[in-house]
Amino acid sequence: MMFELKNVTRRFGKKLAVDSVTLDIPQGQMVGIIGRSGAGKSTLLRMINRLQEPSSGTIHFGGVEVSGLHGKALRNWQRDCAMIFQQFNLVPRLDVLTNVMLGRLNHRSTMLSLLNVFGREERIQAIAALERLGIEQTALQAAGTLSGGQQQRVAIARALMQNPKMVLADEPIASLDPLNAKIVMDALRDINEREGITVITNLHTLDTARNYCERIVGMAGGRVVFDGKPSELTTEAVKEIYGTDKDGAGIDETMTSTAINIAPGGAENQSAGDQPLALAGL
Ligand SMILES: Nc1ncnc2c1ncn2[C@@H]1O[C@H](COP(=O)(O)OP(=O)(O)OP(=O)(O)O)[C@@H](O)[C@H]1O
Ligand SMILES: [Mg+2]
Repeated sequence: MMFELKNVTRRFGKKLAVDSVTLDIPQGQMVGIIGRSGAGKSTLLRMINRLQEPSSGTIHFGGVEVSGLHGKALRNWQRDCAMIFQQFNLVPRLDVLTNVMLGRLNHRSTMLSLLNVFGREERIQAIAALERLGIEQTALQAAGTLSGGQQQRVAIARALMQNPKMVLADEPIASLDPLNAKIVMDALRDINEREGITVITNLHTLDTARNYCERIVGMAGGRVVFDGKPSELTTEAVKEIYGTDKDGAGIDETMTSTAINIAPGGAENQSAGDQPLALAGL
């Protein structure tokens, strides 16, 4: 099934955060979105999941217009494209197993879920998801006591509980050390390869995008300035994506000495706005 973005645009006041993005993504692709801070990567992902509405343009999945969905159909879509965030967005005081089962939230009555009434089948599925990510031994631990890498694996297990068609990951490894980053990226690749789930992930290191993604989309100033295979990503293309401004404004102050390490978004990009509302209050 094809996933199609056509002229998707998002304005914040006068600011064009995402500027007429058109992309066709076949089911099962692993896509890395790169670009410097403020390029519009998070906004693009949020519009796919409908956490944010496009100002104009259309998003279709298998012929259905995502941008026109309401009510139950919208909730189903949000279940179909599970989100993973830099800051994991787990409920720290709840145990890991419950956090994973919260992935079922959209499948059943919210009330029952809030009452923490999960069935045997859901527990079995949650434990299987944890086993798959190699963290089943943490099932009864409070999620907040886990290491960052473990927490992100819990978040991936929670996403798997949604039986998603697509996983959208916004800088999933930006808070992790290299070893945990590898474990988490390997897990995403495994989901993509074994289940054919489309993975679209914002990444702030070019190397990670090159190593894991069959397709790289480079954004600058809200626009797609590169769309191709890692092998096609020339030095010129990298320059266009990360930019050395012709007007002499230079490289973004969040960049480090090379054009490759771009600091991820600041606190404003990880605000409560990222949290599924139902979880934020728990
Ligand atoms: N809710 C909002 N209100 C106003 N402006 C916003 C909002 N969200 C994003 N923007 C602006 O839109 C632009 C794109 O932001 P976005 O967070 O999508 O960038 P990004 O590529 O994800 O950056 P980073 O790498 O820092 O995470 C930025 O200029 C940002 O300040
Ligand atoms: Mg971002």
